Amino acid sequence: MLRFLTAGESHGVGLVTIVDGLPAGLRFTADGLAGELARRRQGYGRGPRMRIERDEIEIIAGIRFGLTTGAPVAVVIRNTEAERWKDELDPAPGGRPKRLLTTPRPGHADLPGMQKYDTGDARPILERASARETAARAVAGYAAEELLAALGVSVVGSVVQIGGETASRAATVAERELIEASPTRSVDGAEAMMMAIDRAKADRDTLGGIFAVVAEGVPAGLGSHTQWDRRLDGLLGRALLSIPAVKGVEIGDAFATAAGPGSAAHDEIDTDRRRLSNRAGGVEGGMSNGEPIVVKAAMKPLSTLMRPLRTVDVATGGADVAFRERSDVCAVPAASVVGEHMVAWTLAVAFVEMFGGDTITDVQERVAAYRARLDER
Ligand SMILES: Cc1cc2nc3c(=O)[nH]c(=O)nc-3n(C[C@H](O)[C@H](O)[C@H](O)COP(=O)(O)O)c2cc1C
Repeated sequence: MLRFLTAGESHGVGLVTIVDGLPAGLRFTADGLAGELARRRQGYGRGPRMRIERDEIEIIAGIRFGLTTGAPVAVVIRNTEAERWKDELDPAPGGRPKRLLTTPRPGHADLPGMQKYDTGDARPILERASARETAARAVAGYAAEELLAALGVSVVGSVVQIGGETASRAATVAERELIEASPTRSVDGAEAMMMAIDRAKADRDTLGGIFAVVAEGVPAGLGSHTQWDRRLDGLLGRALLSIPAVKGVEIGDAFATAAGPGSAAHDEIDTDRRRLSNRAGGVEGGMSNGEPIVVKAAMKPLSTLMRPLRTVDVATGGADVAFRERSDVCAVPAASVVGEHMVAWTLAVAFVEMFGGDTITDVQERVAAYRARLDER
């Protein structure tokens, strides 16, 4: 069984990820992981935090000479500004916060978390609810993408909409790198999207948007129609909806097809068993159908506004405005990388469940035999 857990606070000593169940012999290097973390950090619309948020990686367990050993992989991503927060987040008894955060921010975990965990201070809630946690998921996402690459599967996330501005098509990886390297570059609506971010920033507001994730090379039959919790579409939905601020998921062209008739909704089957279209986004009956898997996710505009929203002061019971914590204007580009990691993870879990194997060569052989069977019949 492939699984992962994360721990760590936004301003704590570091983030910890344990990935259990990876087959032995899979490539896993600190440099490769650093590349994934850097992709997540970048993107137009992210604030000064990202310059501070350098990621210092330490591989603690499960890797030898750049390859997985089959033992649990443990990685620590150290927080380079932890020293500044040492007193505020001290694990030793007797510490005191400098200031209580008593004016919870609408759209965040602050108030429900304070109610649930019975605290008058939002700090312990927001430290864990912060999307900084998604950096820890990059460890699992990186491992998953290496596993999938070894099986001939690629997963790519890209931005398709920022606020009301749409890309005429999803940017490719190369284009996205160009966009990130040079904010003035125009790639299919990218400039309009960046201008929308500039406008929101000037208005002291925030933006959300939509990202897409496409997985190519997945054979038919991943997931299953036989039980609700084995359906691949359900698993993909859960994985994407677990990303902070993602509030909607679309498999294929779900929302467009919902508006039309069945004759314009389905993908007719050719004699070679390929589809004449891919409106289903590569999933039918809870299983991959051999076409590219296409999922989209809607991200709400970020909740921390430089123009704070109305709230209650839980200390006094009076009306107030929400406290401000350093924040981005738009994080859809970063979320597209997190989405890519979560989709890759979901597919890697499905592969390992279906094919098993203690070494990557075992898994490769089994997948190759299965692909050969599909081709034969
Ligand atoms: C990559 C990424 C970066 C984020 N950055 C911010 C941010 O800078 N400011 C903010 O208010 N929310 C940010 N969020 C969203 C919040 O973490 C999220 O809205 C909040 O935890 C409440 O969870 P919910 O929106 O899922 O209900 C980010 C989300 C992601 C995926």
